[in-house]
Amino acid sequence: MTTPRTTPVRVTKAVIPAAGLGTRFLPATKASPKEMLPVVDKPAIQYVVEEAVRAGLDDVLMVTGRNKRPLEDHFDRNVELEHTLEASNAVDKLALVHEASELATIHYVRQGDPRGLGHAVLAAALHVGQEPFAVLLGDDLIDARDPLLEKMIEVQAREGGSVVALMEVPQESISMYGCAAVDGSGSEDPDTFRITGLVEKPSAEEAPSNLAIIGRYVLAPSVFDVLRKTEPGRGGEIQLTDAIETLVATEPVHGVVFRGRRYDTGDRLDYLKAVVRLAADREDLGPPLLDWLQSWLAERTSDNGADRAER
Ligand code: UTP
Repeated sequence: MTTPRTTPVRVTKAVIPAAGLGTRFLPATKASPKEMLPVVDKPAIQYVVEEAVRAGLDDVLMVTGRNKRPLEDHFDRNVELEHTLEASNAVDKLALVHEASELATIHYVRQGDPRGLGHAVLAAALHVGQEPFAVLLGDDLIDARDPLLEKMIEVQAREGGSVVALMEVPQESISMYGCAAVDGSGSEDPDTFRITGLVEKPSAEEAPSNLAIIGRYVLAPSVFDVLRKTEPGRGGEIQLTDAIETLVATEPVHGVVFRGRRYDTGDRLDYLKAVVRLAADREDLGPPLLDWLQSWLAERTSDNGADRAER
């Protein structure tokens, strides 16, 4: 049981699981983690680390797998490249190279076998110790203009226990997500709910709501004991959702509904949308990209019309 705290323990650590196989993105992910795929001109994982740092979490533990080298190299110095850029006085490019290596203190732990998200989080137990901590999935991007983690940390400080991020999805899509049963009574904030149950990838008929779990969590350290006892669930993997479902019976678990912009870069179609949407909002790339997209779509529409007329 969580005892109500008078002085909440401040969340300072972020855990970023990035050890999945990324099979939906093969062959791109054969030798490189999907978290390194570029979203416009930055690897997806850098957006995630930047989000953690913005929320005040500058102790980052990355859970990596067999292809960890590119991740480690990206957040490390690259002295040779820095010298070359210095020699040619490429100040802006040099700043971009420094940015990634100066973001946060990043630690790494290996998951070994990728036995599921719950198993990846368990690999963080020693580093995290007895404090609440945040988990940010390395392939799930939250737009910097729509803060979420800050609010989740506030809710955790107020309510104790654990907090998960939720998103409303069409009922027919809920089978792709973990789903939350919630109790909204007594909550002053219409987007914060007490969670009464969780179910991983339910059918539309079985789903207790249309609230899907997305890749941000603030977890009580008690989750580690539960994960140690959690048997493999759906897909033969140790599911984080199953462990949080166990916590629901004994301690507070809250859900914060996110209504902002989110990009799932682990899915090919969503990845393509993320690149277009983020590039379209950029001052340097947006105007020429949108001009080109408009004329390309118009051309395609008229070509298709001409094809149909010929048939
Ligand atoms: P996914 O559910 O997207 O699985 O993981 P996956 O294996 O990476 O990808 P697909 O489905 O085969 O294409 C969600 C997050 O959890 C991490 C992933 O790296 C990703 O950030 N993860 C998943 C681990 O770190 N370890 C695991 O064993 C599984």
